[in-house]
Amino acid sequence: MKKLLIAAAALLAAPVLAQQPVKVGVVAPFSGVAADFGRQMQAGIDAFFKLHGDTFGGRKIEVLVRDTGGPNPEVAKRLAQELVTRDKVDFLAGFGFTPEALAAAPVATEAKKPMVVMNAATSIVTERSPYIVRFSMTLPQVSAPMATWAAKQGIKNVYTLVTDYAPGLDAEKQFKATFEAAGGKVVDSVRTPLRNPDFAPYVQRIKDAKPDAVFIFVPAGEQSVAFMKAFEERGLKEAGIRLIATGDLTDDDVLQSMGEPVVGVISSHHYSAAHDSPENKAFVKAFREVAKGLPRPNFMAVGGYDGMAAIAQVVAKLGNAIDGDKAMEILKHVKMTSPRGPIEIDPATRDIVQTVYIRRVQKVGGEYWNIEFDRFPAVKDPGKR
Ligand code: PHB
Repeated sequence: MKKLLIAAAALLAAPVLAQQPVKVGVVAPFSGVAADFGRQMQAGIDAFFKLHGDTFGGRKIEVLVRDTGGPNPEVAKRLAQELVTRDKVDFLAGFGFTPEALAAAPVATEAKKPMVVMNAATSIVTERSPYIVRFSMTLPQVSAPMATWAAKQGIKNVYTLVTDYAPGLDAEKQFKATFEAAGGKVVDSVRTPLRNPDFAPYVQRIKDAKPDAVFIFVPAGEQSVAFMKAFEERGLKEAGIRLIATGDLTDDDVLQSMGEPVVGVISSHHYSAAHDSPENKAFVKAFREVAKGLPRPNFMAVGGYDGMAAIAQVVAKLGNAIDGDKAMEILKHVKMTSPRGPIEIDPATRDIVQTVYIRRVQKVGGEYWNIEFDRFPAVKDPGKR
């Protein structure tokens, strides 16, 4: 009898084990000035579940959200460590700020857990661990097309302004390299602090230098709004100085709050909520159903959606046998139609290859949108040697 009971228990235990959820630990800011980084990623993930369900290969995907309150690299590293050791996650994901991704990279390597980057956009991020795969963009990847486009428009002299940390330096370097190779000239460059910059004095200096255009990278959100305010207050538009930027400046999350001065700003990026495709229409609709208090998806939301889509592919293929190395083999070869357009991972770099769009802010139906009007297909990260 006892033996029989044990056998019955084993039989019962098997399906229970098979139904253990797959755990994904999402590390990002969910509070503080960059709270919308995490909120956008999470809403993107939830939109994916809304459209495709949350169970793959018989296993439910469970998301564990951890708030860095960042940018805060030490906290990001500790949270990643706890997710791996205490919560036993199968995947790390999220990572809004480059310094947070860099800090967590050794945790992924040590634990052999895939780390699915949904934003952090400095070129070197993917080089910091063989377990990192990126579903966002790189600053060189979006800055080079902006430089090519600007040179083609006959813009000759550009002043650059970037935030003084790794993504900004990447943007500055690539813009200059591409723009000068195309015959333009970067007349001067300034770097502004990551925390609480006062843009007014920098913007005044740019106005006094009278370039044809100014090229900007600042992290999306609070800083984009602050920069646009200074740009307007100092009258650069009236002075005939054109504004070109990476799409972080005209972030869909805050675009409405920028008002009329943002109309006409040209930017280059991998995602606009206005992207015209059936996949994006479905995504925006699902996002609006699940997002709490967010106006529309931004590029971090699409990073969350695609990152989770890739994780779902791994879970569907490996089911009960999820293992970091096998998962990486699948992640390295992901190729799909994203709400942003066609994307694939370059297996040599584990970085994303995608279309980069040139967009102009226009008012349509009473709202501001980044309207795509030119594109550079299949752009790889030019920041990689
Ligand atoms: C980054 O830290 O990598 C980062 C943050 C915000 C952006 C882009 C890049 O808008």
